[in-house]
Amino acid sequence: MSRTRLLNPGPVTLTERVRGALTREDLCHREAEFAALQLDVRGRLERIYDGVAGAYVAVMLTGSGTAAVEAMVGSLVPKNGHALVVANGVYGDRMAQMLAAQGKRFTVVAADWLRDIDLAAVEQHLASDASITHVLSVHHETTTGRLNSVAALGALCKKYDRAFLLDGVSSFGGEDIRFEEWNLEAVAGTANKCLHGVPGISFALVKKSVFAARASGATSVYLDLWRHWKEQQGGWSPFTQSVHVVYALQEALAEMESQGGWRARCAEYARRAGLVRGVLRELGVAYFLEDGERASSSILTAFAVPAHVTYDALHDGLKARGFVIYAGQGPYLGKMFRIAVMGDLTATDLDELAAGLRAIIAPAG
Ligand SMILES: Cc1ncc(COP(=O)(O)O)c(C=O)c1O
Repeated sequence: MSRTRLLNPGPVTLTERVRGALTREDLCHREAEFAALQLDVRGRLERIYDGVAGAYVAVMLTGSGTAAVEAMVGSLVPKNGHALVVANGVYGDRMAQMLAAQGKRFTVVAADWLRDIDLAAVEQHLASDASITHVLSVHHETTTGRLNSVAALGALCKKYDRAFLLDGVSSFGGEDIRFEEWNLEAVAGTANKCLHGVPGISFALVKKSVFAARASGATSVYLDLWRHWKEQQGGWSPFTQSVHVVYALQEALAEMESQGGWRARCAEYARRAGLVRGVLRELGVAYFLEDGERASSSILTAFAVPAHVTYDALHDGLKARGFVIYAGQGPYLGKMFRIAVMGDLTATDLDELAAGLRAIIAPAG
């Protein structure tokens, strides 16, 4: 059977082990079996990064990555708070849209989407405006594949003692995240990107002390992390969870543990990205980011569509060979293509991808 290999930034190509979990027995989310399953998955999420278990708690939501980010922003930025949104792409902008929808006070430190986040401007704001309670940013800005300088941003949050809320949706499980060192109050993630699960479950890892210190100020009934956490401590859930997707996440996390955790996954992505970049370099295709080689995550790389090929020709040619790549968003539509290397990709898959890229790009070049 031919497989479609997804090179878009999630959902990813599933392993047979994870796909198989979707056919496990039906469960009621109000029965003890589901409680045990959810407690197990929450524990695994808390153990991915060193020093997290005990200090942070995983709260699981049925919904895509945006649900987790919106729950984090809606539950943790107080109604009388002031958020500093540090943005350089679609997902940073989306956090500002959430704050606007929630009627909360926020200031945006915007950088050009082709540049790193603006740390100098952030420091100016933090040094001069004591009303800022939270700093919000995106770890891996999937718009361009840039791995933002969140370690330096976290150091500023620590220095000025402000809580840091991180959108880790496209990095969680595939890149380093330093919870205490970066002053993180919470990180939002999802099942179906670097964790290699099925779309439908997302989560936030929230500093435990926050739940103890504040009452829920959530601006949403459904996306209220407090409400979920209160019940999830016993394995329960206030609303229906996506049971089979949770089975699949359990299997995906067990698989990741057996493969060496986030470090091994990060190294594997780097190896795969190196192969893809090597082929495209050989074909004369440029990185979309000027500092692409240094600035890009291993998870996803953005390239410039070569002048002699259209994005559609590249996409359709690769799709005919069983690969799905991703277009540029907004201003980059037609000019950029993105290749992510998450999911179940074999050496044969990467060889076939290289052959496809050569066949489509080289002849006209
Ligand atoms: C950094 C980042 N944040 C948030 C999201 C939104 O996730 P979803 O599409 O699962 O809602 C994405 C999706 O690609 C993302 O890359």
